[in-house]
Amino acid sequence: MEESAGKNISRRGFLKTAAAIGTALTVAPALGKIRVVDNAVNGTSVGGGKAGGGLPHRVLGTGKAAFEVSALGFGVMGMTYNRSQHPDRKQCIRLLHEAVDRGVTLFDTAIIYGPLNNEELAGEALGELRGKVNVTTKFGHEVVNGKATGRQDSRPATIRKYCEDSLRRLRTDVIPMFYQHRFDRNTPVEDVAGTIQDLMKEGKVLHWGMCEVSADTIRRAHAICPLTAIQSEYHLMHRAVEDNGVLDVCRELGIGFVPYSPLNRGFLGGDLNEYTRFAPDNDNRNTLPRFTPEAMRANYRIVNVLQRFGRERGMTSAQLALGWLLHKAPWIVPIPGTTKLSHLEENLRSLDFVLTADEWNELETEVSEIPVTGDRYNAEQQRQVQ
Ligand SMILES: NC(=O)c1ccc[n+]([C@@H]2O[C@H](COP(=O)([O-])OP(=O)(O)OC[C@H]3O[C@@H](n4cnc5c(N)ncnc54)[C@H](OP(=O)(O)O)[C@@H]3O)[C@@H](O)[C@H]2O)c1
Repeated sequence: MEESAGKNISRRGFLKTAAAIGTALTVAPALGKIRVVDNAVNGTSVGGGKAGGGLPHRVLGTGKAAFEVSALGFGVMGMTYNRSQHPDRKQCIRLLHEAVDRGVTLFDTAIIYGPLNNEELAGEALGELRGKVNVTTKFGHEVVNGKATGRQDSRPATIRKYCEDSLRRLRTDVIPMFYQHRFDRNTPVEDVAGTIQDLMKEGKVLHWGMCEVSADTIRRAHAICPLTAIQSEYHLMHRAVEDNGVLDVCRELGIGFVPYSPLNRGFLGGDLNEYTRFAPDNDNRNTLPRFTPEAMRANYRIVNVLQRFGRERGMTSAQLALGWLLHKAPWIVPIPGTTKLSHLEENLRSLDFVLTADEWNELETEVSEIPVTGDRYNAEQQRQVQ
């Protein structure tokens, strides 16, 4: 199966364009000079306004739902779940603290990651920093006696129970943002939104969001309790939210957007290829059609485009992938995950670069011309998204 990653496909010669725009490229001399940007503005950095900490900040959501966070967040999932190599606890805690030291204020986890041990890690590392940094988490996947059942359960009583359990594991008394991880066919979205609203009144939840839901569901949920963010998969190799109305409804209603797996589960970083073997027991990439050796071999052409484009500009493929998302709208905050300090620093530096709108279009066009091989999810995983 192939997915076309883009629109407006009109190829122009890369070398010709690169030569023409080469001198227009500048790197922001200091983080302090980064300005609040709009994706339509030419020649600006992609970060956003700088507010207090060491990184530029962005605001997810509007009005009472507004939530100010660092322009790049940190996905904690891969430290204990799904990404093959899980460093020991001390190393993970050290890296999470390195991220805090560098100004990251948004950390993302979920009950299902582990299950449970990812929230426990986040709680141990970041619980004492509550108020200074935000650990967002997610409910929905049923977990019984520490094991995933594969079912969804977003009934009000279950949300309440999961909220109490998450508060305990995260070592806090309020969850900065609580997402519904996957929609539950048996529980109307109005009941989910109403339960969250009650938890907000009780002071247990500050903001809320939903993952992988349709534009219609977003409208219905937002009408009951204003949403702060939608978290769905979005990156150069998966752009469904541009076409299915999700980004449009976020823009219209003033809801933020948090792209998950912004590096396509590491692939856009360039370190994975057809010879990569994922751990059999703790890496879901084994189950994803886009990560078969054949698919990775075909799709590596996309990484090659990023690498070639980046070489001219002193940027890595990961920095281009993150920068492309950041330049799309000032209310987008990607949450790349890593277990390595070098990757953390590389990813955060994507906030420093200044590319023109023409350059981003050029990159997007080149990538769009390459058909993506392999679906992002297998049939069962696809059934769980709207
Ligand atoms: N809502 C949802 O349904 C959902 C689903 C999936 C994920 N998420 C969230 O999104 C977060 C990130 O997703 P993800 O881990 O699936 O994908 P990702 O952030 O796209 O990729 C993470 C992988 O990329 C590698 N990486 C990071 N920086 C790199 C760099 N500069 N160069 C090369 N490789 C690099 C990491 O390996 P190293 O450790 O070697 O750096 C890691 O294996 C998760 O932690 C989770 O919070 C949410």
